[in-house]
Amino acid sequence: ALPRDLEGLRVVVSAGGTREPLDPVRYLGNRSSGKQGYALARVAAQRGAEVTLVAAHTVALPDPAGARLVPVSTAEELRAAMHRAAERADVVVMAAAVADFRPDQLAAHKIKKRDGEPDPTITLARNPDILAELVAGRRAGQTIVGFAAETGDERGGVLDHARTKFKRKGSDLLVVNAVGQGRAFEVEDNAGWLLSANGDERPVPLGSKAQLAAAMWDAVVRFRRS
Ligand code: C5P
Repeated sequence: ALPRDLEGLRVVVSAGGTREPLDPVRYLGNRSSGKQGYALARVAAQRGAEVTLVAAHTVALPDPAGARLVPVSTAEELRAAMHRAAERADVVVMAAAVADFRPDQLAAHKIKKRDGEPDPTITLARNPDILAELVAGRRAGQTIVGFAAETGDERGGVLDHARTKFKRKGSDLLVVNAVGQGRAFEVEDNAGWLLSANGDERPVPLGSKAQLAAAMWDAVVRFRRS
């Protein structure tokens, strides 16, 4: 049986990948399936937490039993939903792949190809860093977890990059995923490292996304007790 060590905690988890519209039919998106975020929500509910899952364009996934689902599309919608849920959350987990940029203009009509005219150029505007905003607005006692998808391996500097990102983001915990070469995205398993602001660093062996979720909640519980 799973421990009920999240009983009494309100947690909010973001999952999936945002879509940034270009025109009424097109968008910029990413490869996130939402499976890791769903696993985090499901495991948290099983361990007794009250869970809100803010989900952006995941693949079709079974409803995580016991979680309140808030569907969103764009980074701006995800941002609003996270700020709202974070107001009363004890733990905030940003597992969603948020687009760093959006098209700076949303065309009112479908962009057409026209003979004799130059091809269109897309200019991008930067989206806000939601995790950084949540850290800046953190309430007393609130634990904030970020995710970092890094290419390469341990010797290739993944951990060094991740440690630098961890300091910059200011979250309490960072889950580092090794991605690329068929890892993490659109697959069933995941591996990486867990970095904690109390200095604890540990590898997460390759396993299911539910196993990584359990390891992350263990780290949250350890951090909150430290
Ligand atoms: O900087 P990078 O995108 O690698 O950081 C990843 C972490 O930051 C994830 O937790 C992701 O959900 C979050 N993020 C965010 N807002 C953005 C970009 C990333 O909250 N605009």
